[in-house]
Amino acid sequence: MDKMWAGRFSTALNPVAEDFNSSIRVDSKMYKQDIQGSLAHAAMLAKQGIISDADLAAITAGLGGILADIESGALPIDMAAEDIHMFIEGELTKRVGDAGKRLHTARSRNDQVATDTRLYLREQADVVSGKLKNLICVITDCGEKYADVIMPGYTHLQRAQPITFGHHLLAYGMMLSRDLGRVSDAVKRMNCSPLGCCALAGTTYPIDREYTAEALGFDSYALNSLDGVSDRDFCVELCAAMSLVMVHLSRFSEEIIQWSSWEFKFIDLSDEFSTGSSIMPQKKNPDMAELVRGKTGRVYGDLISLLTMLKGLPLAYNKDMQEDKEAVFHAVETVCACLDVFAPMLQTMTVREDNMLKAAGGGFINATDLADFLTKKGMPFRAAYKITGQIVAYCIEKGAALSDLTIDEYKSFDGLFDETLYDAIDLKNCVQRRTSAGGPGAESIKKQIKYLREIVK
Ligand code: ARG
Repeated sequence: MDKMWAGRFSTALNPVAEDFNSSIRVDSKMYKQDIQGSLAHAAMLAKQGIISDADLAAITAGLGGILADIESGALPIDMAAEDIHMFIEGELTKRVGDAGKRLHTARSRNDQVATDTRLYLREQADVVSGKLKNLICVITDCGEKYADVIMPGYTHLQRAQPITFGHHLLAYGMMLSRDLGRVSDAVKRMNCSPLGCCALAGTTYPIDREYTAEALGFDSYALNSLDGVSDRDFCVELCAAMSLVMVHLSRFSEEIIQWSSWEFKFIDLSDEFSTGSSIMPQKKNPDMAELVRGKTGRVYGDLISLLTMLKGLPLAYNKDMQEDKEAVFHAVETVCACLDVFAPMLQTMTVREDNMLKAAGGGFINATDLADFLTKKGMPFRAAYKITGQIVAYCIEKGAALSDLTIDEYKSFDGLFDETLYDAIDLKNCVQRRTSAGGPGAESIKKQIKYLREIVK
């Protein structure tokens, strides 16, 4: 195919090179933003007297027709074209002739692609935020529903202290609320217009960058033209935010996988979100959670690809940068797919409260509360800790739980013990008396729920 830049070349591009060079399989996704950017650019050119009003009218009508035809399917995007920018400009020229050839005045594909990518990712960031909010809502509802369901809290995957399932779930709500903040922070810096930086050095035409920036909904325009066309920080930032979403979803997935194992049996995923085995008739596998965990590495890979792509690049544009879109688009799409499956997977799970309570009854998770009982009676914490440790060792030897020992057995360890200790180590009390801010107590849970519901408004 004849290239728009073919003027100084004596032979056509080798077909292998042509295919290798083409980015349209990835950047065709930005057709709408490319047209949006061109409409703003053309309007600015006419306003500044750089092209005529008649040219503007032809370009505007032509681009409008192209957009409608792409969306209706009447104009299939030619996957043999070099990129979406060339495809649309070529199609415009086919449709409106010379006016189409004037569109690229005072513009380069370098500022064009940087503009399109920002516009596209700004929209994608909105989509991700919406899905994050949806999952936060689901988690918050679950947090409320299971606020009184006692389970063991873990450190080192060893039973540690009693908490509630609601409190545990809400922890993920907090993580995702920060992710939401990171996406909106990334958009703040992303929302700066590179249009008018041209190839790298601006232009001799009297362009109005403020006008195009405003027309495209940017908050500002890049103050340095070299930086404007070379900056892909916004891709890295969004990808970093996507990586952290995946960290959180992957940790959550890991727990869901454990909780649905026979070893834990804290939850049952619904059949709708589980799969079977081709050979073992009894199997029900948490594939969705495993896939989310598995896809996490690929999103990190996108982030590392972007960082590595950029690290050695001299200013300004280099073709390496064409690789940016595949990575960041993939990261965003993967996160969206994971969020889409996660929310209904949680909504449809069954919680085995009895098993959680049973697990909480073992493992001496009320040992800290026993030590605190002595401490509140005046014993220094370290001394109380030591005696409690000896009591735990005694229980292990005996095959008993702390609540099984008689008051006489307790008194044989220390005279400060009295009957009220049983109340102090009752699991429900252990949880509800953890009234410290941020703890699993009822007030704290209410506060967490309120905070998360506020965030998603
Ligand atoms: N398809 C290219 C990209 O995505 C467009 C920019 C090409 N610029 C150039 N000077 N060759 O990066």
